[in-house]
Amino acid sequence: MSLLIKNGRVVTAADDFKGDIYIEGEKIVAIGKELDQQADEVIDASGKLVFPGGIDPHVHLDMPFMGTFSSDNYETGTRAALHGGTTMVIDFILQTQGDTLYNALRTWQQKSEGNALGDYSYHMAVTDFNENTRKEVIDMINKEGIISFKTFMAYKGALMIDDGQMVALMQTVREHGGLVTVHATNGDMIDMLIAKHRSEGKMSPLYHYLSQPEITEAEASGRFADMADYTGCPGYIVHLTCEGALNQVRNKTKRNQRVLVETCIQYLTLDASLYEKDFDGAKWVMSPPLRQPKDQETLWAGLNQGLVNVVATDHCPFRWEQKLMGKDDFSKIPNGHPAIEHRMELLYSEGVAKGRITANKFVEVTSTNVAKIFGMYPRKGCIAVGSDADIVIFDPDKKHTISVDSHHMNVDYSAYEGWELTGKSQTVILRGKVAIDNGEVKVAKGYGQFIKRGKVNGKT
Ligand code: URP
Ligand code: ZN
Ligand code: ZN
Repeated sequence: MSLLIKNGRVVTAADDFKGDIYIEGEKIVAIGKELDQQADEVIDASGKLVFPGGIDPHVHLDMPFMGTFSSDNYETGTRAALHGGTTMVIDFILQTQGDTLYNALRTWQQKSEGNALGDYSYHMAVTDFNENTRKEVIDMINKEGIISFKTFMAYKGALMIDDGQMVALMQTVREHGGLVTVHATNGDMIDMLIAKHRSEGKMSPLYHYLSQPEITEAEASGRFADMADYTGCPGYIVHLTCEGALNQVRNKTKRNQRVLVETCIQYLTLDASLYEKDFDGAKWVMSPPLRQPKDQETLWAGLNQGLVNVVATDHCPFRWEQKLMGKDDFSKIPNGHPAIEHRMELLYSEGVAKGRITANKFVEVTSTNVAKIFGMYPRKGCIAVGSDADIVIFDPDKKHTISVDSHHMNVDYSAYEGWELTGKSQTVILRGKVAIDNGEVKVAKGYGQFIKRGKVNGKT
């Protein structure tokens, strides 16, 4: 099967030119002007942008959490992602404390194999680091192609590890060519504030926000960066939300340390005033919480300064009946919000169309940097000869409105209901096959593949 994309405006992290792309099987075979290969299918991309498929490195599919499961599974989640131009996701495997990494891996393989429409990989969340885990971490890197390890500095009793475990994990991961990612908030301080608010009868979603002030994130981000510096382990902070935390990274880099930063689309576009809507605010109960407009400005600037490397979603959807578990107590509202489908279109509309970032930066932070940081470049994350043909043909002028009535995620509300966007994914190609064409799904469940990843930091 061959495919020729003609006359598009090809945008990568570095380039922006009018040209053609010729694909054979799953790979890009030629890029140039007026290519004349005879292809089985020709797509005219005149007037459209042509960029690498999005990679969302922070999603939670069918994840057990806070007494329930996130409501998108591998089928519904990757299908919704494809609709929005995201061709690959990295999901989180959670080790059960007291159990092995391999048991957790097998559980996630059962969830994903034969079910995904889009490509995927896993981060391994280490929630119990001991001598056996240490050996399994090495096998994950060397045998399974899972090179990134997630840690939690919060959610005590379920997911949190202490600083001793963090340092020991970092030493092992550094030695074997992986990286450690972190949910960086001060769990003990947050638990104290939650208990205080509950004891005072303050139970609404607003108190979720007030239990996680900026300092809880700034402190933990700085502490994580210090441990990464001490061990020499590459470190990546997930879902960074605020000025205080980004300033910690800014300061640490003065000693020539590289700390990688991910923010999420909601922290760029939404703010904490949404928690003032009584229980409706539960739609945006997530950790860390939404912040202030000044933090949004910090994050947009951070993208352009190169301090914020990735825009993800932390897609962790819960249906309204699940959110109602916390109707009388904010601490029981399952944390997370749905966004896997709209990350690319929201960032294009709010970022590129409004002149906050360039189209090159858009590609860099939604795809190229993700592939580079997580050991998949140049197979993924670029438009180059020999790369997987994961390509989005995007109409930059198309206006559309986000709504629960038209989205494809398995959740019965939208966190962006009524938002009017400029720019829409028209055709989405995954490994050489048209996966989405004008809103129609063209691939079956099971088409998505697990992508083994390579080591980072020059390790082989
Ligand atoms: O609220 C969130 N972020 N839910 C998902 C779990 C996590 O902390 O990433
Ligand atoms: Zn988190
Ligand atoms: Zn998350």
